[in-house]
Amino acid sequence: MSGKSFYLETFGCQMNAHDSEKVIGTLEQQGYRQVESEEEADLLLYNTCSIRDKAEQKVFNRLNDYKRLARAGKRFGVIGCVAQQEGEKIFERAPYVSLVAGSASYRRLPELIERLEAGETRVTGLDDRQTEETFETEFTARKNPYRAYITIIEGCDKFCAYCVVPYTRGKERSRSSESVVEEARRIAGMGYTEIQLLGQNVNSYRDPIGKKSFAELLTAVAEVDGIRRVRFTTSHPRDFTRDIVEAIDAVPTLCDHVHLPVQSGSTRVLRQMAREYSREWYLERIAWMKAAKRRISISTDLIVGFPGETTAEFEETVTLLDEVQYDAVFAFKYSSRPNTPSLVMIDSIPEAEKSKRLQILLDRQREIQRLNYENHLGEKMEVMVEGYNPAREQVIGRSSQNKPVNFSWPHPIAPAPGSYQWVRVTRAFPNSLVGEAVTGEALTGQATAGMAAV
Ligand code: 5AD
Ligand code: SF4
Repeated sequence: MSGKSFYLETFGCQMNAHDSEKVIGTLEQQGYRQVESEEEADLLLYNTCSIRDKAEQKVFNRLNDYKRLARAGKRFGVIGCVAQQEGEKIFERAPYVSLVAGSASYRRLPELIERLEAGETRVTGLDDRQTEETFETEFTARKNPYRAYITIIEGCDKFCAYCVVPYTRGKERSRSSESVVEEARRIAGMGYTEIQLLGQNVNSYRDPIGKKSFAELLTAVAEVDGIRRVRFTTSHPRDFTRDIVEAIDAVPTLCDHVHLPVQSGSTRVLRQMAREYSREWYLERIAWMKAAKRRISISTDLIVGFPGETTAEFEETVTLLDEVQYDAVFAFKYSSRPNTPSLVMIDSIPEAEKSKRLQILLDRQREIQRLNYENHLGEKMEVMVEGYNPAREQVIGRSSQNKPVNFSWPHPIAPAPGSYQWVRVTRAFPNSLVGEAVTGEALTGQATAGMAAV
């Protein structure tokens, strides 16, 4: 088997996790076998993230940790966002790396791997960011046993001032709605019941053949036979249209959860960030969701300490939390990134001040979530099983609103991941719910391909 095994580690977002599933499938198709440790592998691949400086450093630490293996003849490949961003500079920093490829070049992966096998030591896939093509493969190695991902749109054309994504993932390009629905049918045929539609800007989706709007595509996927839950991430407020809310109201299999990153509560900071909306404009979209018939759970991303953010402007972000009452918030300290427009703005807020602002947000949000989660006490909800925690003797699962729900189970054998159970909520924490299975009403989900009993 020598020369034909690979190890792959993934950093970053769900897009990256799913890209890895496609990369693994492609390599397996070329006769490679995935192994669990660096030592066992002939080819070591790192699928990387460069969204913040900390994320970017991880790959260089990893390369450093394992460079000794290069002496044993193993080859290294850096793929994904750091690869695209740093390009051939990676060969200088880590000369034992022989493949550097951005995600827009994955379509050419078979050819790049062949060149590597032929002995080339500097193989690159870096020039495809203007491509109109998406990376589709029938060989996706789906690693998540209960949730299947489908990328519907790649790249990003928004160019927010702080963000590397348009530079690392290239131009925005959508798949045809036919191919998406067709993949959803295939996935349902494999036994999956939950689908997550992915895109850096998922709701900028434009059917290239012009047939379906994003909301219509959501509906079409949610109506595929056998599919019980459809999620989508990440939405941009600029492209968030009312028909998305109407679709969630009309189609029960569309999950009642929307992740709508706001980034800041201050209109001036939003303008500096080139987000192309104001606080009021964003709140109008929130009002649509609050007026829906279903209670839609809303989550967001925030950046603190963007260049020039005053204390008063930061306060506007805190009051936004109070106004929206999010169910989850992912907050980050601003990190200046190569190539981005905000690089020329002075990163003026000291690190300690950024940390302070972050903590204020997290503390405030914890209180909001404590109350939001307590509102579920006594509620009976359908939970999809994700695993089992033997230490706590609890089944681990998730509600349609994407809230973690851990529950006791009265039988000796835990329910299978991917199955659905009715749970009554008995305790609430700021980040999770605890409950008990409602016996006699347990529903069994379809068995999922590759699913192991826990
Ligand atoms: N610094 C800090 N956070 C960032 N994000 C994106 N770019 C940066 C940056 N340069 C955050 C945004 C985005 C999330 C994925 O990461 O909040 O929504
Ligand atoms: Fe990281 Fe953004 Fe690339 Fe995802 S798209 S891996 S978050 S830099």
